[in-house]
Amino acid sequence: MVQEELLERSKQAMNMSYSPYSHFKVGASILTQTGNIFTGSNIENASYSLSMCAERVALFKALSEGHSVFTDLVISTSSSVPTFPCGACRQVLFEFCADIKIHLTGIAGRVYTVRDLLPYAFDAFQSFEHDISMKKSRC
Ligand code: THU
Repeated sequence: MVQEELLERSKQAMNMSYSPYSHFKVGASILTQTGNIFTGSNIENASYSLSMCAERVALFKALSEGHSVFTDLVISTSSSVPTFPCGACRQVLFEFCADIKIHLTGIAGRVYTVRDLLPYAFDAFQSFEHDISMKKSRC
């Protein structure tokens, strides 16, 4: 089943985490509408603010390889408590896939969308009346 594979891939990605500062490992796997899976782990830096979250690594890998329609995202962490995506990741995910189904390891049978997690989101394409056709497909 695809979701089991997604879960497994996010755990594998978590093991690739580079997190010597926080010791908090995160892995993410994102599924495209065409069935491709991209994964990411958090990658930290001695200059802390340059660190990158796992979710954005996975999303950017997919986007940079031409994928722009996403259906599911799985997030795994080294914590025993399910971990929601940070605010920055919510905003970035909102740009590309506001309705993606987010699965958190440790919370079975419950999915969240970015719209759930980021109500009243800042949407530049509405706020500035940008040409909506320029926007990457939503999920
Ligand atoms: N982190 C993620 O990878 N994703 C999130 O949504 C929350 C935080 C990472 C960033 C940093 O490397 C570590 O977790 C602790 O904040």
